[in-house]
Amino acid sequence: MNEIMRTILWLPEQASTFAKSVDELHYFVITVTMVSSVAVGLLAFGFFFKFRQIRPRQSTPTVVPSVRFELAVVIVPLVFFLAWFVQGYRDYVWYTTPPKDTMDVYVMAKKWMWKFAYPDGPNAVGTLHVPAHRPVRLLLTSRDVIHSFFVPDFRIKMDVLPGRYTETWFEATKPGRYQVLCAEYCGTWHSQMWGEIVVMPPAEFDEWMLHQRAGLADRVDSGGDDGPGFHGTLVEYGKKVAMGQGCLKCHSLDGDPHIGPTWLDLYHRRETLETGETIIADEAYLTDSMIDPRAKIVKGYKAVMPTYRGKLTAPDAAALVEFIKSLRSQNLDNVPSKEAIYEPVRR
Ligand code: CUA
Repeated sequence: MNEIMRTILWLPEQASTFAKSVDELHYFVITVTMVSSVAVGLLAFGFFFKFRQIRPRQSTPTVVPSVRFELAVVIVPLVFFLAWFVQGYRDYVWYTTPPKDTMDVYVMAKKWMWKFAYPDGPNAVGTLHVPAHRPVRLLLTSRDVIHSFFVPDFRIKMDVLPGRYTETWFEATKPGRYQVLCAEYCGTWHSQMWGEIVVMPPAEFDEWMLHQRAGLADRVDSGGDDGPGFHGTLVEYGKKVAMGQGCLKCHSLDGDPHIGPTWLDLYHRRETLETGETIIADEAYLTDSMIDPRAKIVKGYKAVMPTYRGKLTAPDAAALVEFIKSLRSQNLDNVPSKEAIYEPVRR
């Protein structure tokens, strides 16, 4: 049934855990609406004949429908709308809530290409390697205009905005190569802003990653303004940025409050703001605070931090976030263990 519907509707391959449930909702909605449209069309057509003018000067009868009929006309469609809502909402919560044990990848969009960076590994342009059967979370940002990261085979699409991070996640189910498209008109070569996701069997991926990391040590980086011109990992690069930009003059790394809040254990910490509101210091909060630091002031601190808009490139901001994420009190060497990030997911 699934295959028949997929073929009729010309849908792409189903290569992630989401794909099937997105398609099932699609089938449900489209079947109900098609059946009702055909029924309404046929009924209208039948009425043309049934109620046509037979004699000249024939008067039109006034039809008063029964209450029961009117209720049915309201309730039957409502039941379908509610069923779509329930199924859609359940799936929406699933799609927008990444599991705890994801492998994170930073995605940077610019006219007209996709760049990928692993927190503890290599950078790549255009091609993202991921393992099958492990959840992967993407943290996306843009260097210039709004783009949208679209993988038809995975049924994921997420806007990519300059100056802030959005996130999405997926779990690929079949090794293979899948197209990445940009789904937001972004200029002359928008239609050619494509990339590729290479899904590898988990063991093969681990080997590939080890190989890539070994290569990092002696790679000669070309530098440039849009990639860390740096040999190490994103975390090490973030530490360099933090020192270079003077972040550490106000933010301590050892837990002591200074001019600004400490960075130790900051990631995912619950902070109370001056307004009394509480927030979780996630990627979005951390990057927003670099761009617009006075928007959300943590209680007890002064609004003295200058904006870093224009001073930090998107990869710099990503690296800083990774650096902050690595600062856990149980992990004081500032680098997350490779095992912690790439440990195979047990299920
Ligand atoms: Cu990027 Cu369209």
